[in-house]
Amino acid sequence: MERSLIILKPDAVQRGLVSAILGRLEQRGLQIVGLKLMRVTEDLARKHYAEHDGKPFFAGLIEYITSGPVVVINVKGKNVIETVRTMVGATNPVKAAPGTIRGDYGLEIGRNLIHASDSPESGERETAIFFAANELFTVERSVDRWIYE
Ligand code: RTP
Ligand code: MG
Repeated sequence: MERSLIILKPDAVQRGLVSAILGRLEQRGLQIVGLKLMRVTEDLARKHYAEHDGKPFFAGLIEYITSGPVVVINVKGKNVIETVRTMVGATNPVKAAPGTIRGDYGLEIGRNLIHASDSPESGERETAIFFAANELFTVERSVDRWIYE
């Protein structure tokens, strides 16, 4: 079982794309086990994006992710890391395939709408920094047998 930490970035919230993006995740069959609206502090942003510290786009990235409320989502299940990353599309929306979230809604790398964990390890690390244990749910879904073989 993997976890993916997904962030609908401030541009997605401002543009009213929360329901469209959340709808895609739900319709795919993914199980949402955590969900909230929050403001990312500078400290949290630096921790989350620590791997990019020192890169030329780092300051702009921190400013972007802290610029307004975001929706954070936790998804749990088999192969969710690759599944969600594929739905999100390439980092630069110009290169993202149509049918992906960035390819359908985005135009620039600095406004690419959504974050998703890139490995099972980052999924666990990022989940722990965004969600308290009592904000995450373990719920049996009877529909799972119609989604997973
Ligand atoms: P994310 O972490 O947000 O899911 O995006 P990603 O894995 O597809 O891309 P990553 O390389 O981790 O970059 C993190 C975010 O930094 C911004 N960025 N800007 N101007 C640039 O060259 C540049 N490169 C990256 C994007 O917002 C990217 O999502
Ligand atoms: Mg990344």
